Amino acid sequence: MEKGAVIVSYRGIASLLENLERPSPADVSRAEAEDELIVARAKDDPMADLGAPQQPHAVLEFAAAENAPPPELDELQILAMWNGLRQAVVEIAKADKTPGVLFAVDHRAASLLQSFLAERGESLEKLQEVQTDVYEVQFDDRDISGWVGSFFSDWYKRIRKRPFIAGSREPRRIANATRIALMGDWGTGLYSAPRSSQTIAESNPAFDVIIHLGDIYYAGNEKEVTRRFLNYWPRVGDRAMSLAVNANHEMYSGGEGYFGKLLPALKQPSSVFALQNDHFLIVGLDTGWDEHDLAGDQVQWLDTLVRQAGSRKIVLLSHHQPFSVFESQGTALVKKLRPLLTAGRIFAWYWGHEHRCMIYGKHPAWRMYGRLIGHSGYPYFRKDFSRYPIAQANRDGSTWRGLAGTDMAPPSVILDGENPWVREAPKKYGPQGWASIHLDGPRLLERVHAPDGTVLHELELT
Ligand SMILES: [Fe+2]
Ligand SMILES: [Fe+2]
Repeated sequence: MEKGAVIVSYRGIASLLENLERPSPADVSRAEAEDELIVARAKDDPMADLGAPQQPHAVLEFAAAENAPPPELDELQILAMWNGLRQAVVEIAKADKTPGVLFAVDHRAASLLQSFLAERGESLEKLQEVQTDVYEVQFDDRDISGWVGSFFSDWYKRIRKRPFIAGSREPRRIANATRIALMGDWGTGLYSAPRSSQTIAESNPAFDVIIHLGDIYYAGNEKEVTRRFLNYWPRVGDRAMSLAVNANHEMYSGGEGYFGKLLPALKQPSSVFALQNDHFLIVGLDTGWDEHDLAGDQVQWLDTLVRQAGSRKIVLLSHHQPFSVFESQGTALVKKLRPLLTAGRIFAWYWGHEHRCMIYGKHPAWRMYGRLIGHSGYPYFRKDFSRYPIAQANRDGSTWRGLAGTDMAPPSVILDGENPWVREAPKKYGPQGWASIHLDGPRLLERVHAPDGTVLHELELT
């Protein structure tokens, strides 16, 4: 029987790691520098021999004897995969913060491993219910036989990157009065994600366009697209246009679920799209196909659309960020779009990927409003923002805290508070929600909402 949500945490697969191989000294010292979590775990392991260097041939022998990797792979391939797998498990151990709470990592092999183990755990009935209809995969030593081999031969090797599909140079026409709902990093099927969907679907007046800013966990394969996305997407039928931008987690499976299932379901011809009325051009970019970059002919495509748009204001949507206070900068994006940015041609840009909600001040050089809406479904760990001033206290108990700018990013406010939807540890996780854009003739009014629709931020962009 198909279960609700299946999550893969470190504790459920730790026994596998211990049976596969001990963490190598290189892994341990790397983890030691970055995070003490794995070190604590490795040291708890009585089998851990941190002093002995790992011999590649020993790894291969072990792999061949115990786990029968597919014979068509040569030794180098096996070694590369083995190292990738080990690294994946280390990444999973580092990211796992609260038992029973979903987490994902920006790491392809780790995400594929989580997808694989979720399916494997479900088919082998190795699941433990950690919350109503939420199941955690629990493997023990005896489950080890053959699983690595099938991960590599049946899964990893068969992944083919779906081709990029160029966008149409004819924008889809939208009305001058259009209401758009935005959700980012929403594809968990868990926590407040279903509630935000329901609020959007029941909103009155209704939304005309509903857009996902990307990330369906763990690797956006077909099953995950169905179970974490389509099963929970706002049920609006043909009353609203639904669109989804491409993202890194979708591409970890080669875009299998995104291109193969999601785009057809949404009747969206390409991963990039353009909507236009008399005053605005709204463009969805694909920064997932080439991670944090613009694949295909997107730069020329956007140039053409912008030229055709005349004096219309331009709003960009993408999964990855052009700039950030906490994470990597969108160097490739900014380099490729620099002429449009420095000409002040981009009015506003909404993105996800970082799991937070941030409203930046107008970019001084680009005269652009940047917004991070990456908090719609992923349970994200809170940083301590208590030393930053409260810019606004919200009705639901959350606050906006003021952050200084950096060389790259303007000053901003960040949404801080508790997350009652993560019942295991509400104080440790930050608030979730979604955003809306209301176009009304030449005016653009934006809002940030709590999952139940409560307005936490409202601003007319000028
Ligand atoms: Fe994400
Ligand atoms: Fe992402």
